[in-house]
Amino acid sequence: MFQYGQGKFTTQGHKGIPEGHFEEEQGRKGFFGPVSHLLKPKPSTRWIDIEGPLRPHLFDLVKMPQAPEIWQRLLYNSDVTLYNFWTTPTTAQLQQAVRNADGETLYFCHRGSGTILTEYGLLSFEKGSYILLPKCVMHTILPSDICQFLIIESRTGLYREPERGMVGRNAFYDPAAFGLPDLSKRDRVLQERQMKVTQVSVKRQDQITNFKYSDCVYDAVGWKGDYFPVSLHVRDLMPLLSARVHLPPSAHTTFAANGFVVCTFLPRPLESDADALKVPFYHQNIDYDEVLFYHDGDFFSRDNLHAGMMSFHPAGFPHGPHPKAVQNIGNKTHTDEYAVMIDVWSPLKVDTPLKSVEVDDYWQSWMK
Ligand SMILES: [Fe+2]
Repeated sequence: MFQYGQGKFTTQGHKGIPEGHFEEEQGRKGFFGPVSHLLKPKPSTRWIDIEGPLRPHLFDLVKMPQAPEIWQRLLYNSDVTLYNFWTTPTTAQLQQAVRNADGETLYFCHRGSGTILTEYGLLSFEKGSYILLPKCVMHTILPSDICQFLIIESRTGLYREPERGMVGRNAFYDPAAFGLPDLSKRDRVLQERQMKVTQVSVKRQDQITNFKYSDCVYDAVGWKGDYFPVSLHVRDLMPLLSARVHLPPSAHTTFAANGFVVCTFLPRPLESDADALKVPFYHQNIDYDEVLFYHDGDFFSRDNLHAGMMSFHPAGFPHGPHPKAVQNIGNKTHTDEYAVMIDVWSPLKVDTPLKSVEVDDYWQSWMK
């Protein structure tokens, strides 16, 4: 399709929006498809009522009953499942391993630190680490303290690095930043902690099968190949930015998989051009359900949010910054937020335990 416009419009999206107007992006395929920008005197978030399944959700995971060692399912479809997972140091961990035969396991460490033993070696994690365990890779989490993870399970395909296109191979993060498993460190931990891991729990179709062995299952003496676990810390992510114009959320894509992407929003300088939009632009999630997990920092574009909360905006729901965000931005020159976004193609379902920690009036938070 060709570009066409009528009436009042700007030649560059997200920039030079006339005083007293709001820009709304209507775009397909996330931020990659056909797109138009509409100028409106009022934002589409000025509803006075919403009835039906597109009502947005906010959940306070801090209030979720802690169920250590259990993957608490939060949201799911056939491509991706999100879980909340708490773990604390126990002696039982010294004998146990898990394998996920349902898909790739991407742990995001929201709280705590520790190590993960795998067949391929040891990986370390701390608050802000992603740890990517490919399907069926046996592993044992050894937390140093209380740990909380958001687990993003890809059920229909491998995780990939984002397509970096014209910004090149090393943009956003350099593949050299991946933490690699260390076999000798794993063997040292096995020896020092006198570990004999003989029980392996395997998850397939969300059911557990327990395997027992008489000797330690971490016995690989070496490996080669391109299928192995890695870690990536948010401090090694280098947010893309333009001083002149607000970049779309897809500029922060950290991992891609079948039917969804994982993006990481991090502290960054705000746009410095006087006429640049400095808050996320109003848009409709035309094709994607959007989940945002608030990890840390100051979430200035939203009202009354704290770390550990998770919002869920179904596709078709128009949204944008809360009314106070524009005022909140004041003289700010930087954002100070850490958040993980999961943009999902097929509709997500909310699992029952999550409904108990829903903030019921979230949909009203755009109403002044
Ligand atoms: Fe969005």
